[in-house]
Amino acid sequence: MKLKYDLRIIRHPKELTYQIKSYEKIPIELFDNAFDGSKHIAFRIAEAIKEKQRNGEMIKLGLATGSSPLKVYSELIRMYNQENLSFSNVITFNLDEYYPLDPKQQESYNHFMNQYLFDHVDIVPENINIPLGNLSLEEVDSYCKDYEDKIDHLGGLDIQLLGIGRTGHIGFNEPGSTINSKTRMVRLDNLTRRDAAQDFNGIENVPYKAITMGVETILKAKEIYIMAWGQHKADIVKRAIEGNQTSDIPATFLQDHPKVK
Ligand code: F6R
Repeated sequence: MKLKYDLRIIRHPKELTYQIKSYEKIPIELFDNAFDGSKHIAFRIAEAIKEKQRNGEMIKLGLATGSSPLKVYSELIRMYNQENLSFSNVITFNLDEYYPLDPKQQESYNHFMNQYLFDHVDIVPENINIPLGNLSLEEVDSYCKDYEDKIDHLGGLDIQLLGIGRTGHIGFNEPGSTINSKTRMVRLDNLTRRDAAQDFNGIENVPYKAITMGVETILKAKEIYIMAWGQHKADIVKRAIEGNQTSDIPATFLQDHPKVK
């Protein structure tokens, strides 16, 4: 049972799903490996994009960075290349960005999104929204409010993709974030900075702050997929899906969402 919550290397997913059901407060689905799980999510996103296309509507996607969504993005790119999946009706809002950090720097989430998704599909550049890390301090508050308002004015996010940090963060809503938090500047937990150290070539280069959508912003999405691949996430996943709702583990706030997986 050591690997009970490891979504990557569970051998008998059905059997374990049955055993876990009695504890879980967030519905979970287990996959043999990250690729199968990512394909499943990419398929759902593609179906949603196509459904909106048939109705002549735009779809609003909330996107994450980091290692968790990488295979979802590569699968979406494959569908674009091989199955004519178009992103022409897609509007995206990314969860977060380090602060301060120039969007052109390769460690930035702006750079990440171009590299792993946007440069490879037919999304309209004006439809891409990613928080900027190079604002002046005076600009940040009104920028965050505008980001939040823009999502609301477009009718909210249809699908939100999430990873989970080892602190229990979603987006960069670190421990202490409240259920009604909105897009804002936050201070990063030291564990989060340590986890990012490799990307920045040393913890001393990891910014201390970030701009992130709030917990409330995330919870307003109509449908949410949270991904966790690998043994190192097992402990925090267990606490997020079994524990009581608490600001100490912001991912627990997903428990009340009507359509989260
Ligand atoms: C990234 C984000 C973070 C990550 C989380 C997990 O945009 O909002 O919450 O999803 O830190 O990161 P990985 O996937 O690299 O383990």
